[in-house]
Amino acid sequence: MTRTLIRGGLVITATEELRADVLVEGEEVAALLSPQASDELAASAETVIDASGHYVIPGGVDAHTHMEMPFGGTFASDTFETGTRAAAWGGTTTIIDFAIQSVGKSAREGLDTWHAKADGRCAIDYGFHMILSDINDQTLKEMDALVAEGVTSFKMFMAYPGVFYSDDGRILRAMQQAADNGSLMMMHAENGIAIDVLVQQALAAGNTDPRFHGQVRHPLLEAEATHRAIQLSRVAGCPLYIVHVSASEAIDEIVRARDGGSNVFGETCPQYLFLSADDLARPDFEGAKYVCSTPLRPIEHQAALWRALRTNDLSVVSTDHCPFCFNDQKELGRNDFSKIPNGLPGVENRMDLLHQAVVDGHISRRRWVEIACTTPARMFGLHPRKGTIAPGSDADIVIYDPQAQQVLSARTHHMNVDYNAYEGKQITGKVRTVLSRGEVVLDRGEFTGRAGRGRFQQRGTCEYLV
Ligand code: URP
Ligand code: ZN
Ligand code: ZN
Repeated sequence: MTRTLIRGGLVITATEELRADVLVEGEEVAALLSPQASDELAASAETVIDASGHYVIPGGVDAHTHMEMPFGGTFASDTFETGTRAAAWGGTTTIIDFAIQSVGKSAREGLDTWHAKADGRCAIDYGFHMILSDINDQTLKEMDALVAEGVTSFKMFMAYPGVFYSDDGRILRAMQQAADNGSLMMMHAENGIAIDVLVQQALAAGNTDPRFHGQVRHPLLEAEATHRAIQLSRVAGCPLYIVHVSASEAIDEIVRARDGGSNVFGETCPQYLFLSADDLARPDFEGAKYVCSTPLRPIEHQAALWRALRTNDLSVVSTDHCPFCFNDQKELGRNDFSKIPNGLPGVENRMDLLHQAVVDGHISRRRWVEIACTTPARMFGLHPRKGTIAPGSDADIVIYDPQAQQVLSARTHHMNVDYNAYEGKQITGKVRTVLSRGEVVLDRGEFTGRAGRGRFQQRGTCEYLV
């Protein structure tokens, strides 16, 4: 078994910061050592990595990505190969992507299709949630089978009528099944029926520009759907995770539910923390780059998001990475904002942006690790294998330079998309070295991993239920 010793860094987990050396044996963390103990072992290690002046943190866990997602008449431009490689560049060592059950098809078929897309192509480890678009007696039974295969969370949509949308009855039935089989329901909480009325009214009035995407997807329609999803989950008795929360009014609903003792959790994404409706209003159709749902909000919402991250009313930051090229994909909606494929790139930038939030004083270093690595691992049944640095955990480790300066740009990023949503943003901090299950897959600007190294992760159930 190969031995790697990571020496001289500051180990940061969700709960502590300590000067310790990390001994990796094979694919796992074997021990955290004092310098003296480490001295004794140094000669027997095949690889010694000097981490002095650096943080040593768990690899990032991005619990919300859409590689190759079919959407709006096209496909998200990152494949599992390009997207997971880009994730590694950005210090993320596990993604949980969304397999899709299409209307009229079985969940089994959807999951098999996503396994076939990912198998042999991923540079880092990965798991799947399942999007349920067609709840019926058969699908409900399939949910139990999927849970047994380690797909322990299901996403449903209150938005996108005619595509992924489910009505309240179908949602309730799936939630009852989740209550029975121990899985976690994830909800895209926007009132899609009302939004579609506003879309038609906007287009009829000649309002076709991307900025109207933000206006028709009103914050109160996010809050209303969030409230409804919470009540349905309480009736069913299942835990609920609201994805991509962006409106302060939706946070209020989550806070109320959590204060009342419900198993309700919230996720937000870097785009809602660092971008705003002003980006959607960029001239010359540039706003299309920022079309995603839930939409970017007026800048005032950001303070509520940061506060909720500090109070744990929002407990995870994922990317919702769903890239579409500006040139030939976002273009589909040049004359009609409702035809712009929804989604933003970000899988490579999340760890850096959240480190910038540490530098800016929004969150602490430990909270950075918690919301980006540990909580997503615990929320989705990957912990303690993933999300921490402890004896027995997978040696998914990032050596992070907290002083390095970088500028985010499409010229230098590795995502397969022709723009960067944070183009020109100055960041303090940069990933230096990434280990995935004990193997160095990225070091000082060189990718040393390979497609197909990443393994499918069977997940357990959520660790946070009260
Ligand atoms: O705009 C987004 N979020 N695209 C991806 C699909 C989804 O709703 O998460
Ligand atoms: Zn969604
Ligand atoms: Zn998504």
